[in-house]
Amino acid sequence: MSWFDLAGRDLISELDWTREEYDIAMKVTDQLKGAYYSRIPHPTLEYKTFAMLFFAGSTRTRMSFETAMTQLGGHAQFIDPQTTRLSLEDKPGAGETVKDTAEAMERYCDGVGIRLLDDKIRYYGEADEVMQKFAKHCRVPIINMASDINHPCQSLTDIYTMHEKLDGDVKRKKIVIMWAWSPWIRGWCSVQGTALISSLYGMNVVVANPPEYDLDPRVMQDCRDLASASGGSFEVSHDLDSALDGATVVFPRNWFTKDRYEIGKEKAAEIAKKYVSWKYSTERQKKLGDPGYLLQCMPVDRGNEADAEVCDNKLSWILDQAENRLHTQKAILTLTMGGRL
Ligand code: CP
Repeated sequence: MSWFDLAGRDLISELDWTREEYDIAMKVTDQLKGAYYSRIPHPTLEYKTFAMLFFAGSTRTRMSFETAMTQLGGHAQFIDPQTTRLSLEDKPGAGETVKDTAEAMERYCDGVGIRLLDDKIRYYGEADEVMQKFAKHCRVPIINMASDINHPCQSLTDIYTMHEKLDGDVKRKKIVIMWAWSPWIRGWCSVQGTALISSLYGMNVVVANPPEYDLDPRVMQDCRDLASASGGSFEVSHDLDSALDGATVVFPRNWFTKDRYEIGKEKAAEIAKKYVSWKYSTERQKKLGDPGYLLQCMPVDRGNEADAEVCDNKLSWILDQAENRLHTQKAILTLTMGGRL
């Protein structure tokens, strides 16, 4: 395994890359972050273009990718799919197919990022199918900028941030990924991604959620398999306070029930109201005894998912985590698009 092997590779699911490949990405992130703070230019992708198809909104992902490409000497092209010819329906008369779009795009750019999730899809799994279809027809790397199932750029950032904050010592550290009440009714990608990457790195992972909120069973099985290979552990709990006991890191986040696309967003919001007490509160953080550092990919629903004080106190990592999106994505772009340091 060498850095060169990541050139041309897609990153759609956390499982697309091995532990060694993520280790390489973290080493390259260290170098690029060091260069950034030393004001050393690092144009690894001069004259290269990264096209970004944003079907859904974003603050951090869009800004960090655009800034990343500027700092790497290339260009990020923001594309609102509504202003293109593309249709995801892929049937005669609907619009331009994914195949034709992907094959045309590869003639212009060196990598393609796609964000597709939440209200922009009709069923769970559709976004992943679209990304796989792009990957089939596009010979440049396809980077998942958040789908219904995975969010690998965020996941790399999360494990990088935990390594940074815990001096590289993440093995057997307990991370609790807790369901939290919010009217936002959010997807599964961030929580599933963090569960996968933390299991890959041998952490003790607990997903705490009310009974209706179990995540994708296939992803949970992947977490169990990764944890058993890495010497970590993976478990699901329906008892929040006992799950939090001994937590080094806590990730509070709302997510919807597995039938969200059948029942609709309004019904999903009604079910969630049963669990308004599920919150990472100041009281819960103080009771922990263990640090209970706040890891949250943002946007965070302050006052609902976590108390504002928890978001702003010394145990909160959220802004350093947001910044690290820039540095880790510079590594992903450099490695997949064949850049040289
Ligand atoms: N964490 C994250 O993906 O943030 P955005 O939705 O703002 O891009």
